[in-house]
Amino acid sequence: MPNFETVVVNTDLLIIGGGMSACGAAFEAAYWAKKHNVKVTVVDKAAMDRSGAVAMGLSAINQYVAYGKNRNTLEDYVRYVRQDLMGISREDLVYDIARHVDSSVHLFEKWGLPIWKDENGEYVHEGRWQIMINGESYKVIVAEAAKNAMNEAGFKDWLYERVFIVEPLMDGDKCIGGVGFSVRENKFYVFLAKATMALMGGAVHVFRPRSVGEGLGRAWYPPWNAGSTAYFTIKAGAEMTCQEVRFIPIRFKDGYGPVGAWFLLFKSRATNSLGEEYMVTRKGELTRWEPYGLAKPMPANLRNYLGMEDIMEGKGPIYMRTEEAIANLAAKYKDDPKAFKKKMKELEAEAWEDFLDMTISQALLWAGLDIQPEEKSSEIAPAEPYFIGSHSGASGAWVCGAPDVMPPEYAKDWEKVGQYVGMTTVKGLFTAGDGSGASSHKFSSGSHAEGRMAAKGAIAYILDNNTAPTIDDATINKWKELIIAPMARFEQYAAVSSDPDINHEFIKPKMFMFRLQKIMDEYVAGVSAQFMTNKALLERGLELIEMLREDSAKLAAEDLHELLRAWENTHRMWIAESHLRHVLYREESRWPGYYFRADYPEMDEANWKVFVNSVYNPQTGEWTMMKKPVVNIC
Ligand code: FAD
Ligand code: ADX
Repeated sequence: MPNFETVVVNTDLLIIGGGMSACGAAFEAAYWAKKHNVKVTVVDKAAMDRSGAVAMGLSAINQYVAYGKNRNTLEDYVRYVRQDLMGISREDLVYDIARHVDSSVHLFEKWGLPIWKDENGEYVHEGRWQIMINGESYKVIVAEAAKNAMNEAGFKDWLYERVFIVEPLMDGDKCIGGVGFSVRENKFYVFLAKATMALMGGAVHVFRPRSVGEGLGRAWYPPWNAGSTAYFTIKAGAEMTCQEVRFIPIRFKDGYGPVGAWFLLFKSRATNSLGEEYMVTRKGELTRWEPYGLAKPMPANLRNYLGMEDIMEGKGPIYMRTEEAIANLAAKYKDDPKAFKKKMKELEAEAWEDFLDMTISQALLWAGLDIQPEEKSSEIAPAEPYFIGSHSGASGAWVCGAPDVMPPEYAKDWEKVGQYVGMTTVKGLFTAGDGSGASSHKFSSGSHAEGRMAAKGAIAYILDNNTAPTIDDATINKWKELIIAPMARFEQYAAVSSDPDINHEFIKPKMFMFRLQKIMDEYVAGVSAQFMTNKALLERGLELIEMLREDSAKLAAEDLHELLRAWENTHRMWIAESHLRHVLYREESRWPGYYFRADYPEMDEANWKVFVNSVYNPQTGEWTMMKKPVVNIC
C-alpha cells in the first residue's frame, strides 16, 4: 500500500474547480464571505491561471446581451436559447444569467481584457450576441481578478492547486465537501464544508475521437475536463437534466478551429464537393422539425444535420469557403488597389488571429497543409460528441433558479431543501457553468456570471445552515483506501507480467478509456455510427457499460499521473451511463445533428416537449427517469 499523508481542510464554502464559473464564484464569494466572516476554499486539479476550457484563450465572448443599451431584451435572449435548443430550456435560468452577464463582461474589460471596438467605440459584434476579443490571455486575466479579490479580502491559504477531487462527501442527504488527492505528491485530501460548489466543467473523450494514432488527445473540447462535475452531482444523488443533450460542434477538420467567426463575422458559406450549399439545397427537410426548423436562427443541431446528410450521401468533403468570404468582404475596395491591399492584409490577420487566440493547433495545421485562407477553402467536419452544458449542449444538474422568475412548477423541487440560487436538489451542493443543465448558451461570460450568482446563493445557504460538518476516521480511511487503490493494485500485481500495460490482474486507465470510447461510439451514436442509435443498440451498450463498471474495480495506476487518469475515466464512465440512459428514455429524435434515434426518427412535440430528468440513488444504485414540464416565461 503506497504511503499517503492525509490532509483535512475545514472550510465553510468549498469551490471545486478553477475555471470560468469558479473564478466568478471566488470573485463574488470574496465580497460576501468577508462581510459575513465565512471561510472560502478553492480546489483545482490544475493551475487556475490556465485551467479549464478557456486555458488556451478564446477569440470571442459568446454571450453579451447588450441589455438595456441596444436593441436586445432579456426575453429576446430567452427566445434565442429556446429556439436553438429545439424548445427545451429552463427559461428562468437563461433569463437570470442574461440579466447578469453584461456585468461580468464589463468587469473583464476593466480587468484588462482587450475587447474589439469599432470607430464609434462600440464593441465589435461577431453576431447578435457575440463580441470579438483579443483573448489569448482571457483566463489569466479572469483568474488574476479572482485571486486579487480573495487576497484583498484578507483570505490566506485558500487555494489548493493540482488537487483532483474524486468523490462527494455526504452526511445523509446533505453534501459536506469532497475528497481527492494531489497529483504532485502523495497526499490524500479531505475538504469539509458547509456548502460545496461543483464547478469542474464538462467532459471530453467519452466517445471515440476522430483523432486517433499520432493525433490522439486532440479534440475540440480540451482534454482536461473528464465529467467530474456530473460524477460528483450524480453520486451525491442530485437530479440531473438534459443529459441526452450532447454537443457536436462543426469544426475546421482535424485542428478543431472555431467556425463562429467565419459564419457570422466573415459571412462565409459552407459547400460540399459539388459546390452545393447544404443550408440552401436541403432547406426543405427542415419542415420535419417545425416549429423550430424554419424559424431563425437555425438551431445548431439542424445546421449540423444538413451537412451530415450531405456527407452520408457521399457528397463530402464539406468546405468552409474562406477564399470566397474574404474576396466578398474585400470586393468593395477593388477600385482602390492600396485600400484593397490593406483590407486584404487586415482580413488575413483576423483570420489567423481567430485561431491563434484559442485554437493554435488549427493555425499550425493551416501552415502544415499550405493553406492560405484567402486562396483556398478548408475542410470542416462534425466532431465527436462532448458534454458542455454552457455551450450549445444542455447536460447538467437541475438547479434552483431565482425566486422572482422561477415558475412554481420548478420551485416545488426546492420546497423541502430550501430555495437558494444554483443549489442542486441535494442540500448544500451547488453548481454552475457546464455543471448546471438546461441553460445553454451562457458560454465563458455567462458561466462566470452564473458562478457569481451561485456563490451568493451558497453563502446565503451557509448563513441559514451554519453548522460545521464532522467526519470520523473510519470514513476518512475508507475513502483513502478506495481512492488510492489503483496504485496499491499496481504495486501488488505489476510483477505478474513483464509488460506494465498488459496484466490479467488489472486494466490500465488508457485501455479502460479506449473500451469506454468504443462502446459509446458504436452503441450510443458516435462518429463511426453516423451519430445514429436505437433501443436495441442502447440496451446492448448499457450491458457493456455494466461490465465495464465491474472492470473499473480493477483499474491500476503506476504513479500519481495514472491515478488521475484512473479516476478521470471512472468519471467519464458515469457521465456516459447517464447520457445513455437519457437517450434511451427519450423516444423521439429532437436534436438530429447531435444524435438520431433511428427507431423514433421524428420529433414528437405532443409527448416529448419536456425535460428528461434522472436521479441516481447512491444507497440502492437505482436510476429513476422522469419527465418534467417545460414552462415558457415569455
Ligand atoms: P471550465 O472553465 O472548463 O472549468 C473547469 C475547471 O474544473 C477547471 O479549472 C478544471 O481544472 C477543474 N476541474 C476539472 N475536474 C476537476 C476535478 N476532478 N477536481 C478539481 N478540479 C477539476 N465561450 C465563449 O464565450 N467564447 C468562445 O469563443 C468560446 N470558445 C470555446 C471553445 C472551446 C474549445 C470550448 C471547449 C469552450 C468554449 N467556450 C467559449 C465556452 C467556455 O469555455 C465555457 O462556457 C466555460 O469555460 C465553462 O466554464 P466552467 O467553469 O463550467 O468550466
Ligand atoms: S466557439 O465556442 O468555438 O467560439 P463557435 O465558433 O461554433 O463556438 O460559435 C461561436 C458562436 O457563434 C456561438 O454563439 C454559436 O452559437 C454561434 N454560431 C456559430 N455558427 C453559427 C451559424 N452558422 N449561425 C448562427 N450562429 C452561429
